[in-house]
Amino acid sequence: MKLFSSVNDVTDVKALVAQALAEKNDPFAHQHLGKNKTISLVFLNPSLRTRMSTQKAAMNLGMNVIVLNIDKEGWALELRDNVIMNGTTVEHIREAAAVMGEYSDIIGVRSFPGLTDREEDYSESIFNKFVEFCKVPVISLESATRHPLQSLADLVTIEELKTKARPKVVLTWAPHIKALPQAVPNSFVEWMCQADVDFVITHPEGYALSEQFTNGATITHNQDEALKDADFIYVKNWSAYEPYGAVTGGNEDWMLTNTKLDVLAPEAKVMHCLPVRRDLELSSEILDGPRSIVVHEAGNRVWAAQAVLKQMLEAL
Ligand code: CP
Repeated sequence: MKLFSSVNDVTDVKALVAQALAEKNDPFAHQHLGKNKTISLVFLNPSLRTRMSTQKAAMNLGMNVIVLNIDKEGWALELRDNVIMNGTTVEHIREAAAVMGEYSDIIGVRSFPGLTDREEDYSESIFNKFVEFCKVPVISLESATRHPLQSLADLVTIEELKTKARPKVVLTWAPHIKALPQAVPNSFVEWMCQADVDFVITHPEGYALSEQFTNGATITHNQDEALKDADFIYVKNWSAYEPYGAVTGGNEDWMLTNTKLDVLAPEAKVMHCLPVRRDLELSSEILDGPRSIVVHEAGNRVWAAQAVLKQMLEAL
């Protein structure tokens, strides 16, 4: 594998999930693969889980790891082409990415969307510039429209904890006070549509995701109907795709509570990619109770990253 930016870069999703579980079972089995190889993890935005889990995965594979918080520690990057750099930016992404490629065998990049210009965000221009100019394999640490390492970890978690061959998985919108990207839900939809699950998306009117991702998925505005008899409930807020980045307010009753689940989905396990705002996006009683598998899910980020990095190292 030379690029990991979406589920479309994976030749066999089932095999990748199985590999992640094999890495979990025997974390140091492939330490020889990363010997004398360097991965650079480049962050244009904050991170806890992605940074630590990918670093740990790379170390388990014997790699050297460089972490660069380029938004805070690097020169101010110019991301646009054809501009005279007489403002605040100091270094163009063309040179910066190329130089990082000189120091790295694999590069991981995190770059969030601006949520103001949909065309710009959905063209993945920043992520794609890294891919174009660094000349080494690239792994997405969350881009403007997708978070594939998160989705792979989510699928690994479902595979690991399911109690029936084809579980019902529900993606539910949740309230928030800020405009959040669509990357996590877009990606989750994309991966669930390739998995052996009965998948339903539910959100209030006005929060439809791009059809590029939801095409063919079951979607309802009735949360109660969607939640009924769910085995896994994936909770996530996102801002509107149309009008782009909008947050309409209201819909506070979309937050999951035990009262809701006791009636509709008593056996459901509750997932969230984290970070989560307690009692705004998801109730403390669920997060602190037996239904929550959010920490287990975050733990699986290591094995998801390790399975992908293993494939990348094998292709070097
Ligand atoms: N879920 C996730 O990607 O977490 P971080 O933003 O902390 O990396």
